[in-house]
Amino acid sequence: MPAGHDVQVAPSILAADFGNLAAAVGEVATATDWLHVDVMDGHFVPNITIGPPVVAALRRHSGAYFDCHLMISEPARYLRMFAEAGASSLTVHVEVGGTAELLAQMRDLGLGVGLACNPDTPFEAVEPFLADVDLVLAMTVFPGFGGQSFMPEVLPKIARLRAAIDGGGFRAAIEVDGGIDVTTAASVASAGARVLVAGSAVFGDPQPWGAVERIRSAAREAIAARASRM
Ligand code: DX5
Ligand code: ZN
Repeated sequence: MPAGHDVQVAPSILAADFGNLAAAVGEVATATDWLHVDVMDGHFVPNITIGPPVVAALRRHSGAYFDCHLMISEPARYLRMFAEAGASSLTVHVEVGGTAELLAQMRDLGLGVGLACNPDTPFEAVEPFLADVDLVLAMTVFPGFGGQSFMPEVLPKIARLRAAIDGGGFRAAIEVDGGIDVTTAASVASAGARVLVAGSAVFGDPQPWGAVERIRSAAREAIAARASRM
């Protein structure tokens, strides 16, 4: 997790060339220690992407922090498989239910523990779990596909998460995912996000490593500007 209030950018390989994932991973390796891996099952979301074998294959090419976002209906069946494949953290969606048990299972597996919520899922759904997670992921698009437009209506929920985490003295980092680029990075960082997932804005750039640096700089500047106003 990023230390204190620093920012990390997690490139989403969903936007990379699936025929050449090892090369994509290499393109961002000097710019960030994080890699966001989008797992979709065709049930929780209308798309199918990556499973444990691909995570294991990527692990042979990378020592990065594999931030695995499980957009799947039955995560309990697969947590151990992702752990054994080389995931660093797993993030399950609060909408699938059974959250307390899933978080405990992830903790027992020795993984970073993440909890995600869709744009229309209220703050109150994740609030009871804030003390128990390393990462709370506020989706800024409806999950399923890359390249969608950022939803600014999620910003108030990010601010509420920031206030609740700081107020409670919790360690959870706030992550955002969907439509993040240099512009929206400033908005989400100002609202309180500290882990910024970016797919299209990174792998759609001819220099993915440069895009990571620019997104992180924009977020850091927004955090510094906000601090100087307070
Ligand atoms: C969407 C995925 C995202 C996606 C983001 O369901 O969870 O991680 O890759 O892509 P961009 O940055 O293109 O919106
Ligand atoms: Zn994601």
